[in-house]
Amino acid sequence: MKITIIGSGYVGLVTGAVSAYFGHEVKFLDVDQKKIDMLRAGESPIYEPGLTELLRLSTSRIYCTTDGAEALPEADIIFITVGTPFLPDGSPNMQYVRECAWEIGQYLNGKYKLIVNKSTVPIGSGNWVESIICDSYEDRHGHLPDTGNFSVASNPEFLKEGTALHDTFYPDRIVIGSGDTRAISLLSELYRPLLNQDFMPPSFLPRPDNFGAAPLVTTDLASAEMIKYAANAFLTVKISFINEMAFLASKVGADVRQISKGIGLDSRIGPRFLQAGLGWGGSCFGKDTSALISMGNEYGTKLHIVEAARQVNCMQRERAIETIQNELKIIKGRTVGILGLAFKPNTDDLRDSPALDIAKRLTIRGAKVTAHDPVALERARDEARLPGVCYKDDPTDVFNGSDAVILATEWEEYRGLPYAQLRERMKTPLLVDGRNFLDSGEMESCGYRYYGVGR
Ligand SMILES: NC(=O)c1ccc[n+]([C@@H]2O[C@H](COP(=O)([O-])OP(=O)(O)OC[C@H]3O[C@@H](n4cnc5c(N)ncnc54)[C@H](O)[C@@H]3O)[C@@H](O)[C@H]2O)c1
Repeated sequence: MKITIIGSGYVGLVTGAVSAYFGHEVKFLDVDQKKIDMLRAGESPIYEPGLTELLRLSTSRIYCTTDGAEALPEADIIFITVGTPFLPDGSPNMQYVRECAWEIGQYLNGKYKLIVNKSTVPIGSGNWVESIICDSYEDRHGHLPDTGNFSVASNPEFLKEGTALHDTFYPDRIVIGSGDTRAISLLSELYRPLLNQDFMPPSFLPRPDNFGAAPLVTTDLASAEMIKYAANAFLTVKISFINEMAFLASKVGADVRQISKGIGLDSRIGPRFLQAGLGWGGSCFGKDTSALISMGNEYGTKLHIVEAARQVNCMQRERAIETIQNELKIIKGRTVGILGLAFKPNTDDLRDSPALDIAKRLTIRGAKVTAHDPVALERARDEARLPGVCYKDDPTDVFNGSDAVILATEWEEYRGLPYAQLRERMKTPLLVDGRNFLDSGEMESCGYRYYGVGR
């Protein structure tokens, strides 16, 4: 099939790279010339393990452009994968999706096209995209497009940055929502290899043992749109729940890691997303819960549980600072080192990063912050221009003259740092392990005053 992906970010690139791997002709269309130039040069504009290798396997089937005229008229399926960041009132910014829909309408021709909303968009967006495409077509041709000339489907994306290719090749489920059977059968056909799991995996992404067919969930448009928000909201609730338990555990002398194990073995609960820490961040959880609350308000429905999950998450960041304050008493004039800036390991994504938020809160209170990240450092220098934060290329430098060090992202390389020697470089040997990543006994024997989360 001829597939056009509008928006070459985390979701678009992965969708396109996997489709090209399955033999489809893929065109990436993006407004960002720099990203398109990088893709043309065979480089991935984002850090995602395996992505560059996967793109390189299919270069002959991939075309990259900033020009809609080159990417849209011949497409069979057009994926909209542009960002939907939130506005100051918490609702999603639909400007980029609107631009895509308008551009699609300009290039609609006699050839049937399936337009797929893969961006996370509010309930009702499928109909809204359809009406913009019609308006745009009418603007160009003076009349509405013929019925059946195109259809719109919702196909929410569930990949996790850092394991995005694995999640796409071996999905828990694929959700397709549309009122049009043609749309559902075309997308089912596109996803056939993933549903049947009968493809030859790339050598660097072997199929997990016992991984069988992936379930397909077909729904109406609105239900598919809501599944995405409900899934993300549920995951945030799970994480905030264990963080709330962690706070109580630290008061009563219990260990939240044992509590997670004890409850996670219950098959009704499950072990995942029960790791206490600095809380969730990233491009999706914050904005999607905010969008869900805003949709609830629009329909006169207050979402108490989702609101509580957000509040707990915000407190979790503040609690890391409180730990430092309780120990040092005064934050002003102190130096705090931060290990890890990306919102989680194996990505360079800094959106809603707990580490950056903590850095900002510390500098507002008069601390100096030094920070390291193995992958996201350049991006932090370019994008997160936080006054009072000094970025270090070497992780050991964040210990120099520090009054405290916070481990904010559990990058594997932080496990092997020479902690005993690094303790000597600190003014006060205070170590806050925001991810319960290090061995507390070992750290204490190195001479640190060690604080984990909920233990
Ligand atoms: N990142 C994730 O982990 C993830 C997971 C699931 C769902 N989602 C959802 O997928 C969507 C995309 O997220 P992302 O992280 O890939 O975004 P991103 O910011 O990484 O990429 C978006 C891309 O769209 C491009 N773009 C913007 N307007 C455009 C236009 N009019 N025409 C062409 N290109 C345009 C931007 O230049 C950018 O390259 C969002 O709605 C997000 O909520 C993201």
